[in-house]
Amino acid sequence: MQAFIEGMPKAELHVHIEGTLEPELSFALAKKNNIELPYDTPEALIAAYDFHDLPSFLKIYYAGMSVLIDEDDFYQLTWDYLEKAASQNVVYTEIFFDPQGHTSRGVSFDTVITGIRKAQTAAEEKLGIRSQLIMCFLRDMSAESAMEHLVMAKPYLGWLVGVGLDSDEHNNPPVKFREVFKLAKEWGLKLTMHCDVNQKNTLEHIRQVIEIIGVDRIDHGVNSLESDDLCELIKSHKLGLTVCPVSNQFVVQSLTSNEIRQMLDKGMLATINSDDPAYFRAYMNENLIALQQEGDFSREDLKTLMANAFTVTWLPEDDKQVYL
Ligand code: HPA
Ligand code: ZN
Repeated sequence: MQAFIEGMPKAELHVHIEGTLEPELSFALAKKNNIELPYDTPEALIAAYDFHDLPSFLKIYYAGMSVLIDEDDFYQLTWDYLEKAASQNVVYTEIFFDPQGHTSRGVSFDTVITGIRKAQTAAEEKLGIRSQLIMCFLRDMSAESAMEHLVMAKPYLGWLVGVGLDSDEHNNPPVKFREVFKLAKEWGLKLTMHCDVNQKNTLEHIRQVIEIIGVDRIDHGVNSLESDDLCELIKSHKLGLTVCPVSNQFVVQSLTSNEIRQMLDKGMLATINSDDPAYFRAYMNENLIALQQEGDFSREDLKTLMANAFTVTWLPEDDKQVYL
């Protein structure tokens, strides 16, 4: 089964590029940029990954970004992720990035997006892995800041396929960003938002993303299973759900394999993803292997999960058919 999983051509639709920062690269960049890390070795850094819920994870995730300074750093970060993904037979990936995590530290938007883009282009040429970029807004920052960043992105619209919403969901409902997402849609961008597992008001948030924001996909969205109405809405809108088993293991102490099974039984378009693989120590293959083992998923189940992913990608329809 492991060989079957490793050999499958895969699509990944929920991965934060800043969450792919491996401890070794973190140390190399800290040295290059003269930044002092509070750890002596990459192993000591990994040992300090003590997260048990979303806020405790986010604290470590934002601290990790401090070593990313110039265009080359963003290039190397993205190249390393794409190389690793390609080595796991990921043939297509849609990558999130968090510009506000960088502009708030004095790194320019242009530096971030240009470094990422150059690595995407090089990886497609040299490794054959195709990718598209999704700009995420931090929901614990203001709607005004999100709007400023959307406007900053205007000259780069051709490099973006969509916008997303991530970070701390507590008291930061989707409707807070209604105008930002309305404008992004007018500019031709696809829309997605995180509805993380077991957050306060999660069912209301899931309803808002579908009925008010009009998203094209939902990140996580696992709690929709608690409402027949929401499941029906998700199915009728043919919305993909980007579920992240090992991430869930960290933040809610469950791989949510039962929930993923229920989604498949109901015909919902569940997909499997890594979220922040360097922090959770699991890329696509490790997520799929852990899920398969815990939930006793068959080859057919795994094929369905991967067909779902290709179905809900934001590739042009003709291009999708190549993979399906
Ligand atoms: N949830 C919310 N924000 C995030 C995540 C996540 O899983 N990963 C990186 N930013
Ligand atoms: Zn995420």
